[in-house]
Amino acid sequence: MSNDPLLQPFQLKHLTLKNRIMITSHEPAYPEDGMPKERYRAYHLERAKAGVALTMTAGSASVARDSPPVFNNILAWKDEVVGHMKQMVDACHDEGCAVMIQLTHLGRRTRWDKADWLPVVSAGHLREPAHRAFPKPAEDWDIARIIEDYADAAERMKAAGVDGIELESYGHLMEQFYSPLTNHLDAPYGGSFDNRLRFVWDVLGAIRQRCGNDFIVGIRYSGDEDLEGGLTKQDGLTISQRLRDSGLVDFLNVVKGHIDTDPGLTDLIPIQGMRNAPHLDFAGEIRAATNFPTFHAAKIPDVATARHAIAAGKVDMVGMTRAHMADPHLVRKIVEGREDDIRPCVGANYCLDRIYQGGMALCTHNPSTGREVEQPHTIAKADTKKRVTIIGAGPAGMEAARVSAERGHHVTVFEAADQPGGQLRLTAQQERRREMISIIAWRFDQCSKMGVDFRFNTYAELDDVLATNPDEVFIATGGLPHTEVLTAGNDLVCSSWDIISGDMKAGQNVLVFDDAGDHAGLQAADMISATGARVEVVTPDRSFAPEVMAMNLVPYVRNMQVRDVTFTVTWRLQSVVREGNQLKAVLGSDYGDFKRERIVDQVVVNHGTRPLDDLYFELKPLSRNLGEVDYDALATGGVQDVTRNAEGAFRLFRIGDAVAARNTHAAIYDALRLARGL
Ligand SMILES: Cc1cc2nc3c(=O)[nH]c(=O)nc-3n(C[C@H](O)[C@H](O)[C@H](O)COP(=O)(O)O)c2cc1C
Ligand code: SF4
Repeated sequence: MSNDPLLQPFQLKHLTLKNRIMITSHEPAYPEDGMPKERYRAYHLERAKAGVALTMTAGSASVARDSPPVFNNILAWKDEVVGHMKQMVDACHDEGCAVMIQLTHLGRRTRWDKADWLPVVSAGHLREPAHRAFPKPAEDWDIARIIEDYADAAERMKAAGVDGIELESYGHLMEQFYSPLTNHLDAPYGGSFDNRLRFVWDVLGAIRQRCGNDFIVGIRYSGDEDLEGGLTKQDGLTISQRLRDSGLVDFLNVVKGHIDTDPGLTDLIPIQGMRNAPHLDFAGEIRAATNFPTFHAAKIPDVATARHAIAAGKVDMVGMTRAHMADPHLVRKIVEGREDDIRPCVGANYCLDRIYQGGMALCTHNPSTGREVEQPHTIAKADTKKRVTIIGAGPAGMEAARVSAERGHHVTVFEAADQPGGQLRLTAQQERRREMISIIAWRFDQCSKMGVDFRFNTYAELDDVLATNPDEVFIATGGLPHTEVLTAGNDLVCSSWDIISGDMKAGQNVLVFDDAGDHAGLQAADMISATGARVEVVTPDRSFAPEVMAMNLVPYVRNMQVRDVTFTVTWRLQSVVREGNQLKAVLGSDYGDFKRERIVDQVVVNHGTRPLDDLYFELKPLSRNLGEVDYDALATGGVQDVTRNAEGAFRLFRIGDAVAARNTHAAIYDALRLARGL
């Protein structure tokens, strides 16, 4: 048996967890009609098969009608959930993986204009900034009904065969009851610390009465709200000890901080550029103070840190949640001694940010996550070995190379630069976004192990491609920044990429016109303002950087707010003219015939990229498919089979930004779904 601390079993009550790695509760917004169906099951099963000891399914599964999901959670208040959960539980149990589920009442952390349009309930009148609903303070009948709802939901889960449940307290109704910031009720549920905690004991008591003492019940809570006037670390320690002493819970799953605002949520679940494992020592203090089974997750993306967490006795079970979204086979690779092959989570947080925008969780560089059914994680070997030639070693080209090599093909990659990466290499030059380069580095490493032939410093021309005698060609040449959007003065501006790459030095008084709303605009503004320059970001949109999304916005705003960067929405840069040694920028508005002027010394335009597609159009008439893609096959995981020119010696596909400016996930997804069928 291995002596790896991570691979030692853990005894939780009667349940033996086969190793120390768990997936903590996270709602990827995959339910259909509020139920965990095939997509959901396939997602957890993939990870169960690869050896994770415990998967805490759902995230915030709702126990009551007046806790409507804000991002497509499981409806645990419906009886029909039992059958769906049972299928998932049975499937994971067959693989030796324990399954639990997180249950909650969201309290004020939801909205009244969802589902049944019921009033939002909390322990006071104060609204949560992130979800904006003004709650009604709970009445006696609300409290009684919700306690029953918890017990009903727990009973349903027990009937589905789960190994246990976890109650989500932090930021949700439970904590809203015991935090002094949110409880404005009178006795018996408001006032003193003991009164505020009464709701917790009543819920746990009702669950125990219904499910018995053998059923495993835990709680996920914040041990320190880290908020003026909120629960202190001392309160957290007291609550932890009381939970242990209550005899009502079997494990503590501790987090640190608060989630009522985007910045709060981002500190609790840190993203790229933020410290790894920032709350691990804190979790260790809780474990030491309670001597009780303690779980914890917060940006522990790599195996070395996870191993340290266990070896140093900080926690009993270490959560590697996003790490498992990026690589579902993480535990298998540890067991097989292939840690180097683990696809790293780069903290891009595309997964979480998407659910808050109403989408399903997708990993920026693993498009099979959440698509286990139609895009399996494992690439099957091809029957016939082909020659695949790829032009461009950005994310799209590197994924096409990796997948083609996995298929067993002979792969050649041309890249004009002296190393792979494309736009991601530039992005990662900023220290805060350095982790992005792992998207490329992991693929380069995988490709190198499989013998892919990389030809760097080669600007591939038609003859270079033909000389490889290819069966399949991928054009992954990306795009070039497009700045020619002004009625005058296009020659006076530079692009956001000129700044990010370092090709253009920052001015001192700079206007950044962000018409794309993506990372590049903010990243350029961030880098310019870091030099001490005065920066105004102007956008025609009604909010700035809409493509960047909530948690990714936090580090940018933190950096730029303190530097007094200003954000001007609903104005569109129209023209730039030289005025002495300065520039005059004229702003117009889509809302009317209004004009404003700015005098600056540099204008930066962020307007996406235009495809670099000359080589594609040169190759197109020579190809068998004339570049055509069967979209039905592409969308449904089918095989490409278009022949429009029988004379053509090869098929030609264009992927990523070489088609149109999109994002990293789109580029990689293009590559995966085309290359896996060739
Ligand atoms: C898509 C997504 C949804 C999440 N939803 C929940 C949730 O409903 N309840 C919860 O307690 N944590 C939720 N989390 C937080 C995770 O459980 C975990 O604490 C967090 O991702 C930090 O751990 P990691 O760095 O290992 O990913 C969610 C995380 C993700 C990525
Ligand atoms: S999107 Fe980013 S943070 Fe989320 S799992 Fe993928 S790599 Fe990790």
